[in-house]
Amino acid sequence: MNIILLGPPGAGKGTQATRLQNERGMVQLSTGDMLREAVAKGTPVGLQAKAVMESGGLVSDDIVSGIIGERLDRPDTDKGVIFDGFPRTRAQAEALDGLLGERGRKLDHVIEIAVDEDALVDRITGRYTCAKCGEGYHDRYKQPKADGVCDRCAGTEFKRRPDDNAETVRTRMAEYRAKTAPILPYYEARGLVSRVDGMAEIDAVYAAILAILDGGPAAR
Ligand code: AP5
Repeated sequence: MNIILLGPPGAGKGTQATRLQNERGMVQLSTGDMLREAVAKGTPVGLQAKAVMESGGLVSDDIVSGIIGERLDRPDTDKGVIFDGFPRTRAQAEALDGLLGERGRKLDHVIEIAVDEDALVDRITGRYTCAKCGEGYHDRYKQPKADGVCDRCAGTEFKRRPDDNAETVRTRMAEYRAKTAPILPYYEARGLVSRVDGMAEIDAVYAAILAILDGGPAAR
């Protein structure tokens, strides 16, 4: 099964995709994570992407579609993929159709995580991750069970993203409204879109996503 999680910055795409990967064996493909890795390694893609990401704008369609295409050629993606943060433009949505079609695969669901934008700045500016395993936390909504110790790997170092500040978040939201939300009708026309309430608690959002995956079209 191949699915897209769609929603503005801070909607919970990464949180839910990580859980689906851990519990359902699907593979999370986050273009944001891939680009951050490229920036950290100083690759040519990373050098092009760095300033754009720090400003909150979108990296070029060719770059992100290219990295997704390369990743889809790895055999682990046969188990099913969760696209997290991709596609973000109509051109990327069309590129994804081509990439899947060339590999004899198809999209099964596009799940929109609907949220109240006013809550997102708070969610994003409070977010941090384990520096060792990448597990995500939040100052108020998801703290480690033992203070300062990662639940998953017992790491004790944590980090915050450079683009997780209030000003950049507003640019990212504007980009979402202008370029990403308009791709929903592209998928609605094919009957692929389901919505979940992203303002519910993390476990409830996950349960709603599972109901869609396990219930098929009737859950829409
Ligand atoms: P990317 O990394 O994709 O960032 P984003 O879309 O802005 O999304 P976030 O990672 O900020 O949010 P999320 O929805 O994953 O929320 P999370 O689960 O962490 O992209 C970064 C940049 O890379 C872009 O700005 C762009 O420059 C570039 N880029 C990436 N992909 C691209 C593409 N395809 N094309 C062009 N450019 C691209 O949750 C947030 C916080 O809230 C967490 O702390 C979490 O614990 C908490 N939380 C989650 N769910 C809930 C809940 N239900 N209740 C309470 N708290 C919750």
